[in-house]
Amino acid sequence: MTVVLLKPDALQRGLVGEIINRFERKGLKLVGLKMMAASDALLEEHYAHHKDKPFFAGLKKFMSSSPLVCMLWEGKEAVDVVRRMAGVTSGREAELGSIRGDFSMSVSANIIHVSDSQAAAREEEARFFEKGEIFDWENVVFPYLYGEDEK
Ligand code: RTP
Ligand code: MG
Repeated sequence: MTVVLLKPDALQRGLVGEIINRFERKGLKLVGLKMMAASDALLEEHYAHHKDKPFFAGLKKFMSSSPLVCMLWEGKEAVDVVRRMAGVTSGREAELGSIRGDFSMSVSANIIHVSDSQAAAREEEARFFEKGEIFDWENVVFPYLYGEDEK
């Protein structure tokens, strides 16, 4: 399971459907989806490791300029897979074919946040979702997404 936040630039630019489509086609399973207006307190917790950086105030302003689209995706090694699909932080350096590589020219307006480890994913799940917002549904195509030895 991994957490994905579509940032205000994704919402403003009409990229929400395109990005969800990429994760769906890859074979990841959507178990949580909602919009949220991020409060200062939430952003200060989420970006605590950046609180002394010069870009912190701008980052908070950007992240609260429009609602976030928050998602939980499940799949084998989902954290690593989704991180590679997002691409490196800078849209200018991100590999073509990745979400940032295809849609961003910026280090800060870089479309998407993705969890960077399983521990971070668990923390972010608790930070952004209530228990009742997470759905454990059976994906009937599951047997066609993985080999016998991977289930
Ligand atoms: P994220 O956490 O959003 O998935 O991105 P990341 O791991 O690739 O990058 P990270 O270093 O954790 O930075 C978090 C977010 O802060 C903004 N940022 N701006 N102006 C700058 O130099 C700068 N550096 C980072 C970006 O929005 C980045 O995604
Ligand atoms: Mg990060």
